[in-house]
Amino acid sequence: MSLPEGGLALVTGATSGIGLAYARRLAAMGYGLIMTGRRMEILERKAREIEAEYRVSAVPMMAELSREEGIAVLEETVRGERPRFLVNNAGFGLRERFADTPRELWEALIWVHVMAPLRLTQAALRVMQEDGGGVVVNVSSEAAFIPVRRNSVYAGAKAFLLRWTESVALEMMGSGVRLQALCPGMTRSDFHPRMGSEGASLSRSRLIPWMTPEEVVEESIRDLKRGKVICVPKLAGKARTLGIPLVPQRLRLRCLNWFYRASSGADSCNTKN
Ligand SMILES: NC(=O)c1ccc[n+]([C@@H]2O[C@H](COP(=O)([O-])OP(=O)(O)OC[C@H]3O[C@@H](n4cnc5c(N)ncnc54)[C@H](OP(=O)(O)O)[C@@H]3O)[C@@H](O)[C@H]2O)c1
Repeated sequence: MSLPEGGLALVTGATSGIGLAYARRLAAMGYGLIMTGRRMEILERKAREIEAEYRVSAVPMMAELSREEGIAVLEETVRGERPRFLVNNAGFGLRERFADTPRELWEALIWVHVMAPLRLTQAALRVMQEDGGGVVVNVSSEAAFIPVRRNSVYAGAKAFLLRWTESVALEMMGSGVRLQALCPGMTRSDFHPRMGSEGASLSRSRLIPWMTPEEVVEESIRDLKRGKVICVPKLAGKARTLGIPLVPQRLRLRCLNWFYRASSGADSCNTKN
């Protein structure tokens, strides 16, 4: 299956990591870009670099997606600019037990990971159907398949994204609009340092190999061309997401508990076990 050629792509969270790699990849395919984020100095610089390297237009746009106003502005942008490719990528993680997590933090997470993709995808599907086709990629995670200790709302949000994307893909079959839930495992980006979990991530990286954002994006594009709705990059990722849910639940939780405790050993802040 080929992808729509050229046109406009909107990538949320394009300042760094997977979003930036996706923006670059789409620019290389000839798409003009709207790149959203909040660290505007970095975003503007990255957009200028992309324009110079790929000779496409790249418009940086400030969008705080944990708030209604930020989502509403982007929704209007989708209706007005009519992108053919939308990547709902913006996101962040938490690292406390749910019982201890301040409500404003987990509410913000739900807005960014759930409300923003819902609203932007619905706006995009309407314009893409009218325009005869398009692609929506929702960046989920391996966490959609596997319980995550100290990031439970994140795991739940990513599981929602996965099942909802697959359900909408079912509704859109034959319409020319394609959807994908992209489910990466540990990826080098600003995500883990910003969570303050470098210690745990470092020690986890001895147990699980990391990917680069570029590798994640390549697998996403390849699976889109193959018509796959769920993309889990790398063989090890596929094995984990298929295998772990098959382990009997008591054993699964015990093993995961061991894994998270073993890999949080290097994390000085992780004291409440
Ligand atoms: N890294 C991993 O191991 C991993 C694994 C699986 C899934 N993922 C998912 O991949 C996606 C991209 O993450 P990444 O690893 O590339 O991390 P990253 O380098 O930290 O990038 C996250 C992007 O999201 C934006 N963002 C964060 N909070 C936002 C908010 N409240 N409003 C608007 N934008 C916001 C950031 O914008 P600013 O920087 O401008 O604030 C940044 O552009 C996320 O959805 C994440 O859950 C990551």
